[in-house]
Amino acid sequence: ERPLTVAIDGPAASGKGTLAKRLAVVLGVPHLDTGLLYRAVGRRVLDAGADPADAAAATDAAVALVPEDLSRADLRGPVADAAAAKVASVPGVRAALLDFQRRFAQGGAVLDGRDIGTVVLPDAPVKLFVTAGLDVRAQRRYQELVSRGGAVPDFETIRAEMAARDEADRTRTAAPLRPAEDAAILDTSDLDADGALARAEAIIRWKL
Ligand code: C5P
Repeated sequence: ERPLTVAIDGPAASGKGTLAKRLAVVLGVPHLDTGLLYRAVGRRVLDAGADPADAAAATDAAVALVPEDLSRADLRGPVADAAAAKVASVPGVRAALLDFQRRFAQGGAVLDGRDIGTVVLPDAPVKLFVTAGLDVRAQRRYQELVSRGGAVPDFETIRAEMAARDEADRTRTAAPLRPAEDAAILDTSDLDADGALARAEAIIRWKL
C-alpha cells in the first residue's frame, strides 16, 4: 500500500497549519510544518549578523541547519516572518532543505508550506491549497499575537506585512506560491478549524 502523503499549501494564516496538524492526528502520520525550516534558517542568518537576503549567507545557514533549530522559541513574530520570506527566495536554501522534507514524507506524512504540492511532493496523492481573504487572515494573525501576549503591532501593520510577504512568496522565481494543477482549493474564510477539517476529510475520501 502506498504511504499516505498529504501536501498542503497556502498563504500566511490561511489555516493550513492547524489543518495539517489535525489531519496528521486523524490519519495517524507525522506532520511537518515546513515554514519552520525557513524561519530557523532566517534566525541563523540573523544570529550570524548577516542579511537574510544575502544568498551565500542564507545558503550556508540552510546547510548548517540542525533539528534542534526547529524548537527555538523565537521563530514566530514579524522579524522571523520577514527573515523567513527572504531566505526562502534563495534557490540554494530551497535545495538544501529539499532532501530533509522528502525523507520526512517517506513513510506517509502531512507537510504544509508553499511549494509542497508543486516541488517537494509533486506525486502526493492528496494536495490541498488552503486559502482565505486577506482581512480574515490578518485578523487571525492579530488574534494569535494578542493571545500569545506581549507587544502586538496594530492591525493595519499586520495586514500590510502579510500582504507584502504573500506577494513576495507568489512572485519569486524559486518555487513561487501557487496551487498545483491537481490541488483541491479549500477556502477557509467562512470556516472554523472543525469546518476546515471536515472539508479536508471529505476531499481526501473523494481523492483516494
Ligand atoms: O508558513 P510560514 O508562515 O511559517 O512560512 C514562513 C515563510 O517561509 C513563508 O512566507 C515563505 O516565504 C517560506 N516558506 C516557503 N516554502 C515553504 C514554507 C515556507 O517558501 N514550503
